[in-house]
Order: sequence, then C-alpha cells, then structure tokens
Amino acid sequence: MAYGDQTNIHGTSTTRRTTLHVRDNGTGAARSGGNGKLWGAVAAGVAVGLAANMGRKLAVQATSGLSGDWFEVLKTEHRMALAIFDKIEATSDDQKAKRTMLLTQLKHALSKHAIEEEDVIYPELRLADQSTAADKLNHDHGYIKHYLYKLLNTPKDSPEWLGIVREFRTLVEEHVREEEEEIYPSFRAKMSQEQNAKLTTLVNKEGLSLA
Ligand SMILES: [Fe+2]
Repeated sequence: MAYGDQTNIHGTSTTRRTTLHVRDNGTGAARSGGNGKLWGAVAAGVAVGLAANMGRKLAVQATSGLSGDWFEVLKTEHRMALAIFDKIEATSDDQKAKRTMLLTQLKHALSKHAIEEEDVIYPELRLADQSTAADKLNHDHGYIKHYLYKLLNTPKDSPEWLGIVREFRTLVEEHVREEEEEIYPSFRAKMSQEQNAKLTTLVNKEGLSLA
C-alpha cells in the first residue's frame, strides 16, 4: 500500500500529524526520525556484510567440507596443503612476493586444519583411549608451527629457504601418512554412524569459524 493511501484511510488527523512531522524537519523529533533511518541503513548494511561474510566462510569451508564425512574433509585439506607446498617449491629465490603470498596461504590452511583436529579429533581420540596417538599428532603440530615460524623469519630470497620448505614438507607428509593410514581409519571404524556424523558437524563448525 502506498504512503498516500495510508493517509487517506486514516483521515484528517493522520494527515495533520504527517504535516506537523514534515514542518518539524530539523527539530529533535525529526532528527530522531532521521537517525532512525540512518541506523536502519547501518543495520541493513551490517546485515548484508554479515551475510556476505558468512557466504564467504561457507564457500571456503565447502572446498573441503562437501563430502559430508570428517575423514574425507581432513584428507581433502591434506591434499590442499600439499598442493600449496608444490607451488612454493616451484618458486625461485627472486620471487620473494610470491613466496610470501604462498606462505600466508599455507599458514592459514594448516592453522585451520590444526584447529579442527586439535579441538575435535584429538580430544575424541583421547576419549577413545588413544591418548598416545593423539599426543604424537599434537607434538607434530608443534613442529609444524616451528617450521612456519622459521620460514616466516628467514629471508625469502635466502638459498636456505627452499631447503627448510623441503624438511617441513617431509614432516607434514609423514604426519599425514600416520593420520590417514594408521590412526584415523581404525578410529572411524570403531565409531557409530551417529558419532561419525557428530564429528563431521563439529569439524565443519570449527573450520567455518576460521574460514
Ligand atoms: Fe591432519
């Protein structure tokens, strides 16, 4: 219904109020109305921004989380991290900016993945009497941070830089092999379908918060 129609339906008094409101433009009441519109627009902008950010987060998590199974999500993330290692190893010492950009990507990918494992999978491993395995994997994550720190703080054009990357990759590959071949398959097999579904939800929730 158009604004003018409302005035007609509610009669003269409404029309007078409308006129008064217009005449009061510039007074406190009118400013308050203006502020209301302004805050409405700000709130709408914030809502649009939040929705866009959530859309972005969903898109990031969907790159690994579409399979609907926590083990597949983590395996996909392992492959994604190793693909970033491939790109880094293909750089030369004069590509400092590219190395910095790829290292930032690697750090984000590994950090998000580590939180999913440390906040969900490793605690569940401990609850399933696999604390020794969880402690070993957690220990590896400490060294993953060590290598990220070392690479961030070594000049990107240093001839040693790629050597550190290769040592780092060896550690990550062995860690991935242990998880994918030795620890996760038997752990998942012991869990019920319901428990595995819960783990998938929790892993995606952690991933989404960091995407
Ligand atoms: Fe992992």
